[in-house]
Amino acid sequence: MRSPKLDTSFDSNPSKDFLRREYDKAIISQWRAELGKPLKYFGLPAWKMLDVIEWQQFIDRFTTIEREENEQHLMFLKANVENVEERLHSLYGEFDHILLNGRDTFGHTPEWPYGLVNLDYFGGFIYADLSRPKALRKLIENQAIYEQSFLFIITQQLRDGDTKKEKSGFLKDLGRSLKSGILDTALHPPVDEIVSWYEDADIPDCARQTLYMNYFLRDWGEAEHFDVACRPAVIYPGTGGSWMIHFVTDFRFQSGVGHRVASNQSLLELINLGLLEAREKGFVPTRFVQPKLSIRKQK
Ligand SMILES: C[S@@+](CC[C@H](N)C(=O)[O-])C[C@H]1O[C@@H](n2cnc3c(N)ncnc32)[C@H](O)[C@@H]1O
Repeated sequence: MRSPKLDTSFDSNPSKDFLRREYDKAIISQWRAELGKPLKYFGLPAWKMLDVIEWQQFIDRFTTIEREENEQHLMFLKANVENVEERLHSLYGEFDHILLNGRDTFGHTPEWPYGLVNLDYFGGFIYADLSRPKALRKLIENQAIYEQSFLFIITQQLRDGDTKKEKSGFLKDLGRSLKSGILDTALHPPVDEIVSWYEDADIPDCARQTLYMNYFLRDWGEAEHFDVACRPAVIYPGTGGSWMIHFVTDFRFQSGVGHRVASNQSLLELINLGLLEAREKGFVPTRFVQPKLSIRKQK
């Protein structure tokens, strides 16, 4: 099947192919083994469904979201050609709206809950109306209603120049929450140092965004009774020259817990995760190396 000539049509590239085929696939394979049953997928696969097809041995049913009519139509054809039609449940519209309103443009609903979520979208994380963070949060809440652990993959564009105010507020909060967990005030200066390193306008935004996203995923997950394990973000050159950033995070539901969960991964470990840089043949040394916080392990 040939790619349609659409401005909006998504084309993969070798770095993304590497992540899908090797990095993500290895993690999904382990996740499938841990859950002990085939995974139900929820995501934005585009009409070629390269992710669904690459991971299909781990997936039994999949819900797709697409906002482009042509892409949606081609997706049905592709599902037919690949003989996976019966496993396809498709929603049409903007994913933020679908998550927030619980329905797509035609009133169809997601089939909650899911074991694997792959939100791979155009655009960044923060817009003026904060609809994207609200939508992601809603997804986590929905999973919690069903007490369902899931692997959450997020890929977005690394272009958040418009969110400086948001991020500087976030960094102040991060400094405060770290310090409140560290009773020995003599250890507070390294926290201030790392916060001001991130605040520095010359620091590449990928470093800030890594910390920012991982921190929020953990915060939202813990509030909904998930033990959250983040990984280093992966940056890679996307199709059309824009840089992308990719997060793969474990959300393990903790049954019978009425209070907020404290994840096994500490906040310090999360801060020190840093980021990786991928190319077509694998990971390459990155220029974006952040300082590490070296304080005894604390929660
Ligand atoms: C980057 S592609 C997905 C690639 C696929 N996951 C892979 O591994 O090859 C994103 C797809 O989702 C659609 N899409 C992007 N942003 C969307 C949004 N906000 N709501 C609904 N669909 C969206 C695009 O039209 C495109 O088909």
